[in-house]
Amino acid sequence: MTGTEKDPAAAARGSELASNFTQSLHYDRRLYREDIAGSIAHASMLGRQGIISEGEAKKIVDGLKQVREEIEDGTFAWKPELEDIHMNVESRLHELIGDSAGRLHTARSRNDQVATDTRLWVKSSADEAITAIRGVQSALVEQAERHVETVLPGYTHMQRGQPVVFAHHLLAYFEMLDRDAGRFLAAKRAADVMTLGSGAMAGSPYPLDRDSVAEELGFAAISDNSMDAVSDRDFILYYLFAASVTMAHLSRLAEEMIIWSSDEFGFIQLPDEYTSGSSIMPQKRNPDFAELVRGKTGRVYGHLMALFTTVKGLPLTYNRDLQEDKEGLFDAADTLLPALAAAEGMVSGMTVDAARMRSAADRSYILATDLADYLVRKGVPFRQAYIAVAALAKQSIAAGKGFGELTLDDFKSASELFEDDVLSVTLESAVAARDVHGGTAPNRVLDAVRNARERLERSKAEE
Ligand code: ARG
Repeated sequence: MTGTEKDPAAAARGSELASNFTQSLHYDRRLYREDIAGSIAHASMLGRQGIISEGEAKKIVDGLKQVREEIEDGTFAWKPELEDIHMNVESRLHELIGDSAGRLHTARSRNDQVATDTRLWVKSSADEAITAIRGVQSALVEQAERHVETVLPGYTHMQRGQPVVFAHHLLAYFEMLDRDAGRFLAAKRAADVMTLGSGAMAGSPYPLDRDSVAEELGFAAISDNSMDAVSDRDFILYYLFAASVTMAHLSRLAEEMIIWSSDEFGFIQLPDEYTSGSSIMPQKRNPDFAELVRGKTGRVYGHLMALFTTVKGLPLTYNRDLQEDKEGLFDAADTLLPALAAAEGMVSGMTVDAARMRSAADRSYILATDLADYLVRKGVPFRQAYIAVAALAKQSIAAGKGFGELTLDDFKSASELFEDDVLSVTLESAVAARDVHGGTAPNRVLDAVRNARERLERSKAEE
């Protein structure tokens, strides 16, 4: 073979690689609804503006509706060799209505088209995420309502620190998820800008009515710069960031549930549907769902990092690299939504062992801070009170006694200022003492539960 001859096998390999490597149909077909909605709005506007005839616009719109039906009833013949969802829809439209189909792409490019499609998808997916987040929040509030007086140890460094009520602990996750919903709302706002009319990147030489297309598609605004419009993927970064933070929160909750449901803690039992047995150890109830929520968190972070990396070196405007935006986006949604559903199910279905929680708090030195505060009330500076109680704790640990078992004499050996009433420093008095906004006193937590419920109702009504 001479250098100028073509090797047919290599050429075939090349074209197979070309179609496999460059095609995106296996994932972007998920955009069919958005793509067809965008095309219908675009074609209708072309007709209204007299850019194509009204008759042809109608033919295109009817044809597109038929394409959508075929996709939905499963009769559509997908052709990966046509590369992506946009070309698949347009090619089928041509089979259905003939040459009029060729007019649909007037004043449009796949660059402004795919941006609008993906924005529509992100908007509705952000809504789904918010709804699912509200579901977890409702489950948290309901459990919290039952446990306003259930005392358990609060931990720092995974060491028992101070007593709290379980509702207070659960409502911490309510707050995290509330911020998550806010981030999805921000993602939705970022996506709520229509890019059609930007053309390939410079705008369009036709007398378009972009506002009417935006209105028909339910967008709040149209893009102000065509070059930015076809290359901007910030809205996907927003979505992936919101999904990543939410997964981080769910992962922390999952981790706590795994610990709480261990034999060592025994604070909760997870519902049967969210555990599985071991193939070898008959006694096991493994917290698989919680572990998978924790385990799947990394892949969502990965999608965020991947898109950051994709966009960082791109010159304006559209570059094919941007096609890499969608697979991670879809996978993030497919990971997040089931994780939220699992979290909701585990929170609402878990059984709480309040006695076990209380005894974990009881058999410890968790009241040390409160004993120091007791001395402070008797006039001792906090630092000195701290030293006295630390000595008392050391001495009780050595004697194998909990604070609850100490006599007044034991207390007096640490400080003469301890009197009879020290015996009324209890878990209940300790939580009740944190009577500050944001604190764990049951009356405050009851307010917090009510407040959470109200906020939830309000946001559900607004969303
Ligand atoms: N599949 C492409 C994407 O997702 C659509 C836009 C292609 N544009 C182009 N000029 N090749 O980004």
